[in-house]
Amino acid sequence: MAQKEQWGTRIGVILAVAGSAVGLGNFLRFPGQAASNGGGAFMIPYFISLLILGIPLCWAEWTMGRYAGIRGFHSAPGIFSVICRRRGARYFGTLALLIPLIIYMYYVVIEAWCLSYAISYLDGSLMPESNPGDYGEYFNAFVGMGADGSLFQPGHRDFLGILIFTFVLNFFFIYRGVTKGIEAFCRVAMPLMVVLALIVLVRVLTLGSPLPDQPDRNVVGGLGAMWNPNFAKLADPQTWLAASGQIFFSLSVGFGVIVNYASYMRRNDDVALSGLTATSMNEFFEVCLGGMITLPAAFIFLGAASQDMGTFGLGFSALPNVFAHMPGGQIFGFLWFFMLFIAAITSSLSMLQPVIAFFEEGLGLKRHAAAAILGLLAAIGSGFVTWFSKDIKALDTLDFWVGTAAIFVLAMVQAIMYGWVFGIERGHKELHEGSHIRVPFALQIMLKYVTPFYLIVIFCAFCYSNVPGYVTSISESEVAVASIMFILLVATFLFVLVHIAGIRWMKEGKYDFLYQDEEKAIQD
Ligand code: ALA
Repeated sequence: MAQKEQWGTRIGVILAVAGSAVGLGNFLRFPGQAASNGGGAFMIPYFISLLILGIPLCWAEWTMGRYAGIRGFHSAPGIFSVICRRRGARYFGTLALLIPLIIYMYYVVIEAWCLSYAISYLDGSLMPESNPGDYGEYFNAFVGMGADGSLFQPGHRDFLGILIFTFVLNFFFIYRGVTKGIEAFCRVAMPLMVVLALIVLVRVLTLGSPLPDQPDRNVVGGLGAMWNPNFAKLADPQTWLAASGQIFFSLSVGFGVIVNYASYMRRNDDVALSGLTATSMNEFFEVCLGGMITLPAAFIFLGAASQDMGTFGLGFSALPNVFAHMPGGQIFGFLWFFMLFIAAITSSLSMLQPVIAFFEEGLGLKRHAAAAILGLLAAIGSGFVTWFSKDIKALDTLDFWVGTAAIFVLAMVQAIMYGWVFGIERGHKELHEGSHIRVPFALQIMLKYVTPFYLIVIFCAFCYSNVPGYVTSISESEVAVASIMFILLVATFLFVLVHIAGIRWMKEGKYDFLYQDEEKAIQD
């Protein structure tokens, strides 16, 4: 049996959930998405998605997670069985294991890029004196963009070492458990991240006009490039898709993460205010820090071209250019990439925990065995992403099908499960159990009627505008096809394990709650 885990403190769980949310999505993905989708105008669909999808679904996940947790389940397959009061509902949980696991496989690679860049700033090898070349070319060579397998050639040993270190570090914290590992790390990491990000922010906002021959390339111009609204973009459905995709990715909603984290709470622990606090923290990091640093800085040194550089272009090619020209660039480059690395770890830990919880409670594995199997699976995936590095095709394919499309599907499953199966009256009552704030019942109505409808419309639009083009592009790439086969293989494997777990739970009597009064099933 898995040992019973619980969060140590209220602030601990809030920081852990906020840590899961705040990640590369806030500092790299958000600025790129906002700048290329209408700047300030992007904030309209963004906040609509936050209000209709993000906050309600967060609360639904917190509520369902705690409800199932005090009834003895911490993994999504078990949680979904409790919520639907049906054994078969556990199969939907497969998706909530697949998503964090597959995202971890490529997220940890990007995390290792951040650490590598941080180290390269520390030793000076990324500053112009030792690296006079183009930072775009540097990045392409660094990630093995040119050829599959190139990262396994002798020149890249350092990166592989850093990747292994990053991987082991994640498992070290996961192995220590929810309180001593994740919570303890997030309690230190989150404040540290704020301090580091604020230092870099102050540096960017005090840059003035550093290029004497181009006085209009200044901080105000940079902020304008990020935030000046282009309302014409609102007529483009892609802008609305980008906004909702950003909300999901950024809040870690529809990841299978929040239900798992919330399951370690006690019956009377507040979820309403905690959920809102964690969401607000994420928005502070995203809009106030991510939105004020990355693109404005890039604009000052690179001009309007920075608006269309995309996530990786901004993070790993534009910003090194900025640091190369900025007074004190070496130290600020280090602080920035180190901050990104920490932000990424607090997120990647949250992708491992749902799966390890399932291995423990679903298969009855001890923590070291669960960690070893998960480590092996994740290593195969990260190895796959690292080997098939040409045009970062494998990473891109996993991110499209799992990091974007599958998240919509899981969010939809959870919205329907909460609104139509669990029930909004019950949801409202559960949300307010131990709550420090009151949330109007209108939220529940929205969760039942508006959120699923909005999600379905968005998802259909997503499929219509993206999938055909993507399918054509992958049919021309063997790596993309292999990546999809890989996802299906992992999904099948997890599905079989979920089936086995159900049989075990039945034999162990863990499903007895199906025949019991709701209150009697509580094990808190
Ligand atoms: N929510 C995490 C991020 O923004 C995954 O990076």
